[in-house]
Amino acid sequence: MNQFTSVNDVKDISQLVNDALTLKQNPYSQEHLGKHKTIGLVFLNPSLRTRLSTQKAAINLGMSVMVMNMDKEGWALETADGVVMNGSTVEHIREAAAVMGQYCDILGLRSFPKLQDRDEDYNEDFFNKFISYCGVPVVSLESATRHPLQSLADLVTIQETWKGEGRPKVVLAWAPHVKALPQAVPNSFSEWMCRAQQDGLVDFTVVQPAGYELSEDFTPGATISHDLDAALEGADYIYVKNWSSFADYGKILPFPEGWMLTGDKLKGTNNARVMHCLPVRRDLELSSEVLDGPNSLVIQEAGNRLWAAQAVLKGLLENLS
Ligand code: CP
Repeated sequence: MNQFTSVNDVKDISQLVNDALTLKQNPYSQEHLGKHKTIGLVFLNPSLRTRLSTQKAAINLGMSVMVMNMDKEGWALETADGVVMNGSTVEHIREAAAVMGQYCDILGLRSFPKLQDRDEDYNEDFFNKFISYCGVPVVSLESATRHPLQSLADLVTIQETWKGEGRPKVVLAWAPHVKALPQAVPNSFSEWMCRAQQDGLVDFTVVQPAGYELSEDFTPGATISHDLDAALEGADYIYVKNWSSFADYGKILPFPEGWMLTGDKLKGTNNARVMHCLPVRRDLELSSEVLDGPNSLVIQEAGNRLWAAQAVLKGLLENLS
C-alpha cells in the first residue's frame, strides 16, 4: 500500500481486516516497523477518535508522532495557483505540504468539505494537491468525500461480531440532524460495503428519505430504498448516520417523521446490531434507548478505529522499507 485514501487503495479488504484483528490480539508485534519513522497528523477540522486512535496506532508500531492543528496553529493556506497572495492567505500549499514531507515519513490529513460547491468538494482539490506536493505516503483522516479509516473499522466490527449463517444484511440508514453534515462517512461506508458485497461478505442496503440519495458513484450494487421499516426488515446490522443532500448540494431538505432509530424500530430486524461512527447527537440522530441498549456496537466500533489505523500504517510502513 502506498497511500490510503479510499477502498480503491486496498487490494484485498479481507486481508486488511485480518491484519487489524491480528494486531488487536498482539498490538506490539510489529513495533520494529516504525523505528526511526515519523508520522505527521495534520488536522484542518476537529477530531477525537481519528486523532487519538491514529496516534496510538503509530505509537504501537514504534513510530514518533507529530500533530499539527493547521486550522488553529498553522498559517492560512492558499490553494489556488496563479494568484498574487496579497490577501489573507500566508503560505501556499505547494510549500507547506512539501515542507511537512521533509519532516515526516508518512502524513495523515483531515480536511472537511465546505458544502458550498459540489464540484469543488467532489474534485478533492485540496486533498489531491496535498498528496502531490508532500512527496510521502498519505493516509486520509477524512477528506471531503470519504472517511476510509472509519469504514475499515466498521467492516472490522461487522466481521468480528457476525456469528450467523451466510452473509449479514447491512443497512445504512439516514437519520435526522440539525446541521448540514458531509456525505464523507456514508459515501465511504457505502463504498466499502459495496466492495464487501462484491466479495460475498455482506448484503447491503441504503435507506434515506427522497432527496437524500448518495452519489451513485458510491453505491454500485447496493439496494436503494426510501422505506425505513421495509429496509430494516431482517437487518443484522444498522449503520445510522445523517448526511446532507447530494442532489441539492449541502442542504437540509424536509423529511417525514419517524427517521430516528428507536427500540420499537428494531422489532422487525434480526435483533440488529446498531453502529454509528460518533460523535452522535442523542435522541436527535439516535435514541438513548438504543445507544445504551444491548444492540449498540458504537464503543466497540470506536475501539476498532485503533486496529484499523494500525493495520493501515503497518501496510504503509512495509512499503517504505
Ligand atoms: N468518527 C470520527 O471520525 O470521529 P472524530 O471526528 O472524533 O475523529
